[in-house]
Amino acid sequence: MASQSMSIPGASPSTNPLDILRLAIAKELAHATGLDAGFIFASLDRSATIDKGDLILAVPRLRIKGKPPAAQAEKLALQFRTDECPTVKQPVAEGISLQFHANPSELLGDVLPFVLEKGDQYGLDPSIGLREPSASGGERKKIIVEFSSPNIAKEFHVGHLRSTIIGAFISNLYEGAGYDVVRINYLGDWGRQFGLLACGWERYGVQEEFERDPIRHLFKVYVQISGDFKPEEELYKAAKKRGEDTSVLESQGLLGASKAFFKKMEDNEPEAIALWERFRALSVERYKPTYARLNIRFDEYSGESTVKKATMTNALEVLEQRGVAVPDQGALVVDFAKHGPAYKKMDLAILRNRNGTSNYLLRDIGAVIQRHEQYHFDEMIYVVMHEQEAHLRSLFKTLELGGPPYDGISEKLKHISFGKVKGMSTRKGTVVFLDDVINDVSSYMHEQMRSNEAKYAEIPDPARTSELLGISAIMVQDMMGKRANNYEFDLKRMTSFEGDTGPYLQYAHARLCSIARKTGFTREELLKADFSLLTDAPLAVGLVRVIARYPDMVKQTLKTLEPTTILTYLFALAHQLSSSYDVLRVVNAPEGPEVTRVRAALYEAARQTLRNGMVLLGLTPVERM
Ligand code: ARG
Repeated sequence: MASQSMSIPGASPSTNPLDILRLAIAKELAHATGLDAGFIFASLDRSATIDKGDLILAVPRLRIKGKPPAAQAEKLALQFRTDECPTVKQPVAEGISLQFHANPSELLGDVLPFVLEKGDQYGLDPSIGLREPSASGGERKKIIVEFSSPNIAKEFHVGHLRSTIIGAFISNLYEGAGYDVVRINYLGDWGRQFGLLACGWERYGVQEEFERDPIRHLFKVYVQISGDFKPEEELYKAAKKRGEDTSVLESQGLLGASKAFFKKMEDNEPEAIALWERFRALSVERYKPTYARLNIRFDEYSGESTVKKATMTNALEVLEQRGVAVPDQGALVVDFAKHGPAYKKMDLAILRNRNGTSNYLLRDIGAVIQRHEQYHFDEMIYVVMHEQEAHLRSLFKTLELGGPPYDGISEKLKHISFGKVKGMSTRKGTVVFLDDVINDVSSYMHEQMRSNEAKYAEIPDPARTSELLGISAIMVQDMMGKRANNYEFDLKRMTSFEGDTGPYLQYAHARLCSIARKTGFTREELLKADFSLLTDAPLAVGLVRVIARYPDMVKQTLKTLEPTTILTYLFALAHQLSSSYDVLRVVNAPEGPEVTRVRAALYEAARQTLRNGMVLLGLTPVERM
């Protein structure tokens, strides 16, 4: 490996092969231009695709005065001394850019052993999350990722599914970057709807059914009672709309009873709390194995209920003192419009209801404060659907307006949102729970696999394999586009083995595993391969150049938090692989045993990279299918 004499901030040649190239190029260009190597280093971008080189420099970024950029690019290309910088070929001037192509003979010997030695760590740079970036083994930054967050007794809808998939990915990403990640599931386990659920439990609850399947039974009870409540709710809403006094309506019937029950919960009355606690505890127990199917565990099952009354009372005091929380018809609200132009477009937000109970926003404020006290987090990410954008903005802005006790907190908070999924449904009807989606897609997958009898017979555990493929299908479909995009839930397409799907990616991985089994080399044996044997094989060089980009992709993704960046990369790798197999035959290569060995090393590096990317996304790579 090329030794590094320079230390440049942000450069990580020990984890990122492209940084090795960047450093070498920066050094040579610093010599030619007299500019600072660190400045040049930061201007060297990864090219969009490898036909445009491995790295690209937009010459205007160097801000050299004088000739037009295109002329400068040409001059720099000519001046570049490849004998001083053999890691790259002579650069190509293309318009105002310089394209740098790695020199294959150097690249192969550098990258393949690099990947094989790093193994599961390839692509990760655990120094990013350190408080002091230069220190080795120093203190790690703490980040909270709040995701999934379904509501007890309600359906697990697509918003929760996407939050679960994207949130798990973001957590993995930060963990790989060396952060200390706390995964929190913030359950919808508090609020007036629990008052209604309690009324429903009285009318329709069946103890045995509840114990057998708490989530489903509570949902059923809630649906039934909501049906009963409907006429009343409509009357109430209409009266409100007409601006009438609704206090009488609010005190009778189911509305009155459910409000009263919730009030008892808020007042910590033992009986009300005991019932609610049973609903919650059994539901959480039932969630855990479902998340485990997706490789997900949470450090904390928190929820709206875990926000302490005292925390909220204190917060309200602070906010009232600062003139942020103001009375409005008996309630306490934030009137953002009054706080200057920056808040102009924001709606009035309620903090405390008229009867003194807390609401969603106030509980969220309390949750931030408690988490900050408990974890002293450096950052906190909320993975929540786009529809709650306004709510989260109210949350962040209220804390910002809160002043000194909350100074600096709101800057640490970030909302990661995502678009809608249309038509998520099982074949029997609309889905309600996560298990149902997974079961349905997996059983469909199983049917597809059965249709190829010969292959099917070779799969050691078809039920488990079809489940893993089904889960991959759902997840890959979800992560394929940018987060903000909406997409259509399409069972046929997502489970297909053709096109950019989860099963296709799994197949690409399983094929590489099969090569590894057939060639049977140990890592040590692969490291002894003669890498120069691949120098004249363009497909092999292309593959290595794609493999070499992976750590840079991961680093970039840390900024965008877009899973599609990794996924698109993995598909590009898979496509490059599938066009290589016929040319770069590996089992009993006609060119002899040393060629078999070096190709096996190449495919092993590809397998490792593919696997690492899949694991980062939260997929479980299968070895046979
Ligand atoms: N339980 C909420 C819902 O399903 C999502 C929670 C979002 N997180 C938050 N801190 N408000 O709509």
